[in-house]
Amino acid sequence: MNEPIEGGSPPGESSSLSRLSTPAAANLGVVIEGMLHQIRLLELLCDNLELVADELAGEANRQACLHIARALPAAIADAHRFEETHVFPLWKTVSPDQEQTMARLWLEHVADKSYADELAEALRDHVAGRGRLDTEALGYMLRGFFEGLRRHIAFERDHVVPILRQEMRAAL
Ligand SMILES: [Fe+2]
Repeated sequence: MNEPIEGGSPPGESSSLSRLSTPAAANLGVVIEGMLHQIRLLELLCDNLELVADELAGEANRQACLHIARALPAAIADAHRFEETHVFPLWKTVSPDQEQTMARLWLEHVADKSYADELAEALRDHVAGRGRLDTEALGYMLRGFFEGLRRHIAFERDHVVPILRQEMRAAL
């Protein structure tokens, strides 16, 4: 875990602040807000996927299925691009001891991207009436995706964002 920043660094360690260049430290607030925005969008995406999964048991909402099938891959790609371009490099700089955790999140991104593409295709096929999955299997696939994604973004919100906030407070 990150050492507390207030009150100085442990003996023999440089302060966390010194790991960031001044422009990078000034950029932290923008990156944190951007990450929280991406998290809110993914939470909304999960809520909509859950609605689609709930409606599969009854009369499927074709327009909702098609809309989310179109939006899903791009929403996932946008969130990953933002994190991998802006969040991970800053996090790596301020928490070099968390490299394994970051690698795990990166692998989850790879798996989620593949899963999102398969899910979008399954939703399109379902609406077109050529789906290989029955309603129960498609619902299971939907729930597997959004439940995993909710765990992923909860970790980022509860673990990564506080580390970046702590770093920002130290930079003020
Ligand atoms: Fe992520």
